[in-house]
Amino acid sequence: MHIGIMKFQVILMMVMMVMSFGREGKEGDKDVNYDEAKVPAYDLPELLVTAEGRRITTAEEWYSLRRPQIMSLFSNLVYGRVPEPSTPIKLTFREVKKDEAFMRGKATRKDVEIQIKTEKGAKTMRILLFVPNGVTKPVPAIMKHSFNNTRSGDFDVGFLRSDRLKNGWPLGKILDAGFAFCAVYHEDLVRHNEVEFRDSIHRLFYPEGQSFPKAHEWGVLSACAWGGMRALDYLEADTEIDAERVAIMGHSKMGKTALWTAAQDQRFAMAISAQSGCAGAALWRRKSGETLKKMVTRFPYWLCRNAQKFVEQEDDLPVDQHMLLACIAPRPVYVHSGVKDTWADGRGEYLSAYHASEVYRLLGKKGLESEKSPEVGKAVMDGEVGYHIRNGGHSIEGGDWEKFIQFASKHLKKEN
Ligand code: GCU
Repeated sequence: MHIGIMKFQVILMMVMMVMSFGREGKEGDKDVNYDEAKVPAYDLPELLVTAEGRRITTAEEWYSLRRPQIMSLFSNLVYGRVPEPSTPIKLTFREVKKDEAFMRGKATRKDVEIQIKTEKGAKTMRILLFVPNGVTKPVPAIMKHSFNNTRSGDFDVGFLRSDRLKNGWPLGKILDAGFAFCAVYHEDLVRHNEVEFRDSIHRLFYPEGQSFPKAHEWGVLSACAWGGMRALDYLEADTEIDAERVAIMGHSKMGKTALWTAAQDQRFAMAISAQSGCAGAALWRRKSGETLKKMVTRFPYWLCRNAQKFVEQEDDLPVDQHMLLACIAPRPVYVHSGVKDTWADGRGEYLSAYHASEVYRLLGKKGLESEKSPEVGKAVMDGEVGYHIRNGGHSIEGGDWEKFIQFASKHLKKEN
């Protein structure tokens, strides 16, 4: 073989190895468990027993007693509190671009700026919205917490149109299924791995003298979630959208965010989390794949500072992630894992959805019935809790989207 080609192949192999090690966090991480047999024994906190020891037996008690307790624990100890809804902010929406002939007339594309203003200053988000043309409106929508910069030119090229691209948006399929699609960029309000919180959205809410979030105040994921809520404020004002039928979704970091967004803001009708893993759907107590320690070492403020107190003390957390999914009930929730995405602990993601199902049942809905994870590639979606695990690693692929769209159609299309 030509020596140049061989060299190229060796370099390529090395690059691929480094990339896959990076993903699984293996570089120097001897202390990550991927072996099911080594998952420690654990007791999950009870969903249906209050902090005072009272057993919850009715939907009413869940909504009035237990759910608020759990939400307060997630806010104060895990993700960090967002500003109270009563905090005065001024929101302004500005359509900066409109293309009614997008995708050869299939959709109308709108680029909308959302300005958030307080007496301390202003910050602007830019969302992208694609609304199917020629359908009975208002339409339901899928909102994605997105890694793709909504100000970038990507959206004018093939990226959007291909159903095969990994992590692309299969816009054609989404629109054909009768959904609008809305993308919210994750770095509009806070940087990916923010550590200073000087220019982020936080600064608009600091009282005199404060310059960093307090231990129980919003970290990065909470700030992204809050952005999704503001995007929903816009959709409520857009007469082409039925804002009561909006699903929030995301992958990985944004899958974590999607679940937290839906739990906090009950206007969202559904949540879809793709490979959300640690601080997403996966159970903390399994300590399988990424752990709290790994997360706060790399991304110190994705969660709030209080969460750091539970590093290597996961069993002391008064919540686990099945409780986050339960707070989305009775609204449908879908969880997606990948066999090779061991960093995100697919089994832990399934178990979380399975245990959350206890609350779905209490509320008269159907959850997951078997503790056993379903066969690879086979989606369970006959109730309000859906799940699939597929072969392969950390990405969203065409087949995943098909299942998300099927689940969303089942629950959010009026004609069904
Ligand atoms: C890192 C991080 C994960 C996260 C992922 C992503 O791997 O450790 O928690 O899900 O990035 O957002 O792609």
